Amino acid sequence: MKTTPMEKTDGTAKAKQYIYIVQASLELSKCKIGKTNDLERRLSEYNNMTGKSKENIYRYLFSCEVADMTQVEKDIKEKFIALREEKSKEIYFFNAVLFRDYVNFITSHKSFVEEIFIKIDEKKTTVKIIKKTTPTLKERGLSQRDILKRAQRVKYDEFYTRYEDIEKEISMYDTEIWKDKVVFCNCDDAVDEKEGKINENRTSAFALFFINNFKTLELKKLICTHYSGPVDLFSAGSDGQVYLITYEVGKDGKIKIEKQSPKGYTGSFDDPLSLKILKEEADIVCTNPPFSRAIEYWKIVVKSGKKFLIISNISNAINTAYIPYFKDNKVWAGYNRVDWYLNPKRELTRAAGSWFTNIPIKNSPNYKNLKIMPLKEIPEKYIKYDDSKTLLIDDCYVPSNYKKPFAVSARPILNGLLEKGYNIIQEKRYTPYINGEEKFARVLVQKI
Ligand SMILES: C[S@@+](CC[C@H](N)C(=O)[O-])C[C@H]1O[C@@H](n2cnc3c(N)ncnc32)[C@H](O)[C@@H]1O
Repeated sequence: MKTTPMEKTDGTAKAKQYIYIVQASLELSKCKIGKTNDLERRLSEYNNMTGKSKENIYRYLFSCEVADMTQVEKDIKEKFIALREEKSKEIYFFNAVLFRDYVNFITSHKSFVEEIFIKIDEKKTTVKIIKKTTPTLKERGLSQRDILKRAQRVKYDEFYTRYEDIEKEISMYDTEIWKDKVVFCNCDDAVDEKEGKINENRTSAFALFFINNFKTLELKKLICTHYSGPVDLFSAGSDGQVYLITYEVGKDGKIKIEKQSPKGYTGSFDDPLSLKILKEEADIVCTNPPFSRAIEYWKIVVKSGKKFLIISNISNAINTAYIPYFKDNKVWAGYNRVDWYLNPKRELTRAAGSWFTNIPIKNSPNYKNLKIMPLKEIPEKYIKYDDSKTLLIDDCYVPSNYKKPFAVSARPILNGLLEKGYNIIQEKRYTPYINGEEKFARVLVQKI
């Protein structure tokens, strides 16, 4: 079925206009956002560009009809200027959170008409519009939140932490916290070591940091596990080997390294052996867990009662799956955000991450980002009331004299609002509606 239906309105033919987000299967850290009158032709053009490579197939992640594709494309370029890989091309950084932002922006644009669903024929890599006029989100009983959920389900795990981000965060804590402690790095924290020599390219930055600082931090032991997924930056697992490796100071004062691949061990953080180490040996857990399994990971780590310092998505602070941890003071943000990672091709990739921990934070420099003041001093443009008359406050402004609950985004929580005399008062995210239209999710807080 052609995707350029010609409409006769007032006698003149008018081609439909589309905006799309497309991605190649081997370039998961980027996507292309563009415009076309013909979705089918555009996708075949992309796939022809890759030389019909069977391994690198383009597919649409999102497409929609718009009234003015040139305007929407221009507005996307302006809005996401910092997320463009190259100024002259329509290539943007990609991860599940950014994808949600792109889709939210497009679907809230005044030119947005309706989402178009495309069925992909994997074998022929052709597209087929299965329904030319798809119902609106509302007609399909879907909300922006459902779009967010769908985006969050996108498995986007292969973001590797940079050494400098680990160094920057750990330098903020008193070194005493590490003394005589067993550190457990349990999410693909590979160590490629032969006869005491480490191949840094195949070693996780977490493992490398703790190995390099083993003596300075006076660690008792470091245990790192390697999980071999389908894509793996540390091709230490290229031979399919899954292992755990321990560093320990021997009786002679030298560091003793032991690598084991126990039978049946999967390297997964929820493998029985990993859970045993967590329960019986670990004192502090430190890693960047996979995005797609973060909910289970947090559950296991928080429940273990062990200290942890981990990287996760900033939006966890307004996500129902994690809000109870913040509410019950079982977790708070660390000192730094983490915005850049390496992808499996070692290219810099952007994502909105933050450190989260249950290790006490002292005088966080982030407190100064909170603008706590009487409500009447907060600039009007940052104050709104939703349809249920709940106050929504933006840009990290915080009313100091407001007694009722109000809704904030993730940023004030990450900046330490809960350490400044405010509590989360609802265990699930708060979704405001203004004139019946759903707005960005938040969390409900109240002055104690
Ligand atoms: C965000 S990456 C971080 C890797 C490494 N910890 C770092 O910080 O550079 C998450 C890693 O977890 C791995 N992973 C996926 N499922 C896992 C599981 N069940 N257990 C342990 N690691 C897993 C992924 O393959 C990926 O390498």
